[in-house]
Amino acid sequence: MPKGFKSIVITGASSGIGATLALDYAAAGVTLALNGRDDGRLQAVADACRARGATVDARAIDVVDRAALAAWLAAFDDRHPVDLVIANAGISIDKSNSSLDDFSIVRQTLAVNLDGVLNTVEPLVCRLMARGRGQIAVVSSLAGFIGLPYSASYNASKAAVRVWGESIRYALRKSGVGVSVVCPGFVTTRMTAEAPFRMPFLMSAERASAIIRRGLAHNKARIAFPLGTKAAVWLGGVLPGSWTARLLGA
Ligand SMILES: NC(=O)c1ccc[n+]([C@@H]2O[C@H](COP(=O)([O-])OP(=O)(O)OC[C@H]3O[C@@H](n4cnc5c(N)ncnc54)[C@H](OP(=O)(O)O)[C@@H]3O)[C@@H](O)[C@H]2O)c1
Repeated sequence: MPKGFKSIVITGASSGIGATLALDYAAAGVTLALNGRDDGRLQAVADACRARGATVDARAIDVVDRAALAAWLAAFDDRHPVDLVIANAGISIDKSNSSLDDFSIVRQTLAVNLDGVLNTVEPLVCRLMARGRGQIAVVSSLAGFIGLPYSASYNASKAAVRVWGESIRYALRKSGVGVSVVCPGFVTTRMTAEAPFRMPFLMSAERASAIIRRGLAHNKARIAFPLGTKAAVWLGGVLPGSWTARLLGA
């Protein structure tokens, strides 16, 4: 039986994939906790979700702020026991160069993309386990499967999130809590708007949201798409490292 979700947390809901997921989940009887940093864009998404019948608690909090995020999530869960948490907030700021000239960019990327995911899951995971139900989604990327010639810190952060999510799935299964690792290829959002590299198989956020929601409803371990990018990344992973490096230009 596909899972239906009624109390949903989405970080990074002020834009892109997170905003689209929020809108697509928004309906009468659904309560959404939406987070982002830009309060104007976040409240606009919240209003659009309310117009679809959802109850919304939208709060501008930096996911790196562990204490503030934990307090908000715990208070929300007290009122509306969460059955789906999507740790989606992320940044890609090293783009084509890999920021070896400025390690603060590397550290910032790891703080948001990795610590931010941990800060989102940590306050809720014991509560989900105690209730013996619920779904956790961590948003990684197909960029987290092999070292690409650009965005080193982004790729590393997504690899860490992917492996962490895959691992905790085993431990949480015993408690009745599902875990899905979401690995999109290129999706049209603010993040990819000025990417200085080619983006094969680019897809809309609406299409990505549909694939992600279907995967979460079925507690899929890995929601990776689209097929073309997935196949290319798989090939890069199974070839000898020197072949992959040569194919990618090193
Ligand atoms: N687009 C792609 O091709 C692609 C591919 C693979 C994976 N992903 C992943 O999908 C997720 C969503 O990205 P997107 O493409 O939808 O990009 P996006 O449109 O730029 O959205 C990113 C979201 O994360 C939020 N965010 C960033 N840093 C934050 C922080 N420190 N605290 C709280 N919220 C923060 C942003 O909020 P504000 O704008 O309000 O700051 C925004 O809501 C990311 O994890 C990304 O790595 C995207």
